[in-house]
Amino acid sequence: MKRIVVTGSKGGTGRSIVSVLGKAGYEVIGVDRLAPEPYGESDYIQLDLRDATGVNDALAGADGVIHFGSPPADCNMGTTEAFSMLAVAGFNVFQAARNVGIKRIAWASSIEVYGDMEKQPQLPVTEESPLCPPGIYGSSKLLLERLALDYARWYGMSIAGFRLSRIIYNTPSGRAKLKRIVDDEGLGGDCLWSYIDARDVATACQAWLESDHQGAEVFNLAAANVHQDVAANILLDKYGYRTTPIRESKASDGTLFSTGKIREMLGWQARYDWRTMLKPPSNQE
Ligand SMILES: NC(=O)c1ccc[n+]([C@@H]2O[C@H](COP(=O)([O-])OP(=O)(O)OC[C@H]3O[C@@H](n4cnc5c(N)ncnc54)[C@H](O)[C@@H]3O)[C@@H](O)[C@H]2O)c1
Repeated sequence: MKRIVVTGSKGGTGRSIVSVLGKAGYEVIGVDRLAPEPYGESDYIQLDLRDATGVNDALAGADGVIHFGSPPADCNMGTTEAFSMLAVAGFNVFQAARNVGIKRIAWASSIEVYGDMEKQPQLPVTEESPLCPPGIYGSSKLLLERLALDYARWYGMSIAGFRLSRIIYNTPSGRAKLKRIVDDEGLGGDCLWSYIDARDVATACQAWLESDHQGAEVFNLAAANVHQDVAANILLDKYGYRTTPIRESKASDGTLFSTGKIREMLGWQARYDWRTMLKPPSNQE
């Protein structure tokens, strides 16, 4: 059985990653800065990832790391704190993995590395699209993408950074958030009406763990369609994206945030669609 450390294990996405990997037979060790449950958790380490020594100890003996332990935005913190929570913590994870001999890592980058979608010269956005982070959050993610390339080159590590669209957690509040952006069509334009269920993020992490691809890669990650009944090109017209041409060949799956690369390289595809996600979960989930 492989031992995998999941950072951010108490977060909206981390919980789904722990659940999916656990069901797939991995021994999962959760790491987060939040307190453990009162009943005690043997497979959990409370740790702030800015503590480099602690990260080394937490990763020792693991076969892989899934790093999702950072805030999903920088809006409630100063620039220095945001950089430390995103870039320094991410560096600590890469460096600790190197120190303890872990070769395979998946981590959370963000759609924000592309910046303002209205300024993209072409849609859909692919991994080759221009990068223009609007602030320290996206800039820290981009810095880690660069660091991942170097760690892979220097130390023979295999590191996948997922440029995540808006994540919908598998919780009542996650479903309420999805309902809000579905009901108010104008709200989703910042992510080109793309989205992804946290359980699909988890299967992408699993796909990377189980692949034999070497080196560092970045992958866009989103569901295969927009979260509206209206077609993507109509949304673009309606919300002022008229000058952005759509490359028809890549737009055929309905999304404006292309996931062709991960589908081709890892055979991954999203299982959850916004219509089914809005329904209350079944007993199996
Ligand atoms: N939510 C989104 O829509 C979205 C979109 C793109 C990328 N991401 C990325 O996905 C990752 C997870 O996001 P999420 O939405 O699950 O956020 P979340 O806030 O629900 O979960 C993050 C978890 O990480 C923990 N954490 C944060 N800083 C830490 C630190 N220094 N040490 C230890 N634990 C720490 C938090 O306590 C929390 O439990 C983040 O890296 C985020 O940037 C999220």
